[in-house]
Amino acid sequence: MAKRGILRYRGYDIQDLAENCEFIEVAYLLIHDKLPTRTERRNYARLLNLNSMLHEDMQAFFRNYPEHAHPMAVASAMAVSLSSFYPEMNDPEQEKTISATRLISKIRTIAAYSYKKSIGEPFVYPSHKLTYCENLLNMMFSSPVADYEFSPVLVKAMNQLLILHADHEQNASTSVVRMVGSTGADLYASVSAGISALSGSLHGGANQEVMQMLETIHKSGGDVDKMVQRAKDPQHGFRLFGFGHRVYKSYDPRAKIAKQVCMSVLEKLGIHDPLLDIAMKLEERALNDEYFIERKLYPNVDFYTGITYRAMGFPTNMFTVLFAIGRLPGWISQWYEMQSDPHKKIGRPRQAYCGPTRLTYVPIDKRTAS
Ligand code: ACO
Repeated sequence: MAKRGILRYRGYDIQDLAENCEFIEVAYLLIHDKLPTRTERRNYARLLNLNSMLHEDMQAFFRNYPEHAHPMAVASAMAVSLSSFYPEMNDPEQEKTISATRLISKIRTIAAYSYKKSIGEPFVYPSHKLTYCENLLNMMFSSPVADYEFSPVLVKAMNQLLILHADHEQNASTSVVRMVGSTGADLYASVSAGISALSGSLHGGANQEVMQMLETIHKSGGDVDKMVQRAKDPQHGFRLFGFGHRVYKSYDPRAKIAKQVCMSVLEKLGIHDPLLDIAMKLEERALNDEYFIERKLYPNVDFYTGITYRAMGFPTNMFTVLFAIGRLPGWISQWYEMQSDPHKKIGRPRQAYCGPTRLTYVPIDKRTAS
């Protein structure tokens, strides 16, 4: 499907899900293999709310990180820390439901706390009165002195962007989650490793890099040609962030939707962001360039998301955490799928060694400097 630019979750087209669903419905779909009924969705939303607070003692961790700590590093550390605060239950079925719900719910609280710490503001608790995405936005942007004013346009866009990221077969971070889980490590440790893998600039970290690249172009007068030339120069080692994909050799279907979401949000809110003009110019320039055509390089999911996140008020270093929040249901369902396999084995790739095969031991005094 990927080669034809089609993405479906459990048979449902990504476009249909992004247009019609809330993120928690898609999370439910990935974990329970079916879209929830109205009652199931209400119960799931309630369960997510019941699991939204962090153990009060975890606040000490956030307080002691430096202001400039990257929220992905904090998120990874906090995800694994959850296992110490919430030890495994004896009932495997209950454990499955609760630990998945706990992670999906608390990751928002973790993300918002790391942001609040970085700007020196008090933590905002989650509220049972709010929906999943409202809670995320409220914990990020409200404060004891100012309420957050919800915009239905932004809440919808938040749901859509999280849905776009929810699952994507064996990408690097998902494979890491499965690999760690294959050893018998718990879900929290596996997800923590996934967050670390996602942080890299060739993977989820690209959404942050895209924004920095667009800002660089903007500051230098808006000339996209220079950036395209740089990306084509093999000596430079630079890549156009938000372009190219290991699997998609046509337009990434998620990028198409992310672009529509971005344009619609900016239009509805009456925002003119010069970075959107630059992104569209850069896309057009690259898509008409022989280098990009030959290599089948198209915008990927990370190309347009950052401009929408910026319109919502998120700082650039939070973008990859938003990706992680979206990807969690995918990681969790993949982890459980692997655990339920009766023939499950530890992941153990083999390696083709290319160095010398037999050397005579040399005592340290007789070794020569290389
Ligand atoms: N800019 C310029 N050239 C590129 C780009 C790019 N973004 N991506 C690939 N190429 C070139 C490579 O230099 C290579 O050229 P060559 O054949 O002359 O050596 C050719 O295209 C093939 O590239 P590979 O590295 O083999 O492609 P691969 O499938 O391994 O990499 C990847 C995929 C990592 C996504 C790559 O396209 C890239 O680095 N993109 C930029 C980072 C990015 O946006 N990452 C997000 C990916 S989506 C996600 O993870 C959620």
